Amino acid sequence: MADTTNVTVLIAFYSRGGSTEGLAKAIAEGVTSEGGTPVLRRAREIVSREIMAKAPGWIENADRMNAAYEAPTEADAESADAILFGTPTRFGNVSSELKAWVDSLGGLWFQGKLNGKVGSAFCSTQSVHGGNESTNLTIFNFMAHLGLIIVPPGYGDPAMFRGAGTPYGASAVSGQDNHLPTPEEVEVARYQGRRVVQVTRALKAAGETATKA
Ligand SMILES: Cc1cc2nc3c(=O)[nH]c(=O)nc-3n(C[C@H](O)[C@H](O)[C@H](O)COP(=O)(O)O)c2cc1C
Repeated sequence: MADTTNVTVLIAFYSRGGSTEGLAKAIAEGVTSEGGTPVLRRAREIVSREIMAKAPGWIENADRMNAAYEAPTEADAESADAILFGTPTRFGNVSSELKAWVDSLGGLWFQGKLNGKVGSAFCSTQSVHGGNESTNLTIFNFMAHLGLIIVPPGYGDPAMFRGAGTPYGASAVSGQDNHLPTPEEVEVARYQGRRVVQVTRALKAAGETATKA
């Protein structure tokens, strides 16, 4: 009989400056506190180091994070019960780095292998109205195509009423100094991690997360 209590949560993110990484770590804490198993993965750069060298700190940050997190794989997606997608916003949209990995999931999509897993979104922007909602909603598009059951945080955490996050997914505003997520942004991210585990566990118990033909 399938184990319905163990919930493996893949947290696949891209981060250049550490803000999205901060949310990913907070989500992982939420997953762990609810008894789930977080798997943190960082999507890799798609440009040369020569180009990266033109943006101060990019190479150093990438090297640090790549030493800490493996790159996400197809196998990670296939073995997870739930997948969270996190990205810094790029003109109100998903970063190419995260999207390149998502696009590599076409084979699993074709076989219906991700159908019925839980999906959730989070992102970081520089400015308050710089596209955090549109970025999370853009993630909803491909989550729907992949057949994921989308679980947003809604207004389930009190920090939401103090201006943190979005109802579509956790978010952080990093500002011009690219600071790490605030305590309230972290609270929303932790809540999202807990909620994903709760919903995934309930779906597994109901036999709803199996791939249906
Ligand atoms: C090419 C490019 C486009 C960006 N577009 C936006 C944007 O539309 N809105 C915004 O608020 N920030 C934008 N940013 C800033 C980052 O999304 C923001 O600094 C984010 O917090 C970085 O997250 P990270 O520290 O995880 O890399 C952009 C950055 C780059 C390099």
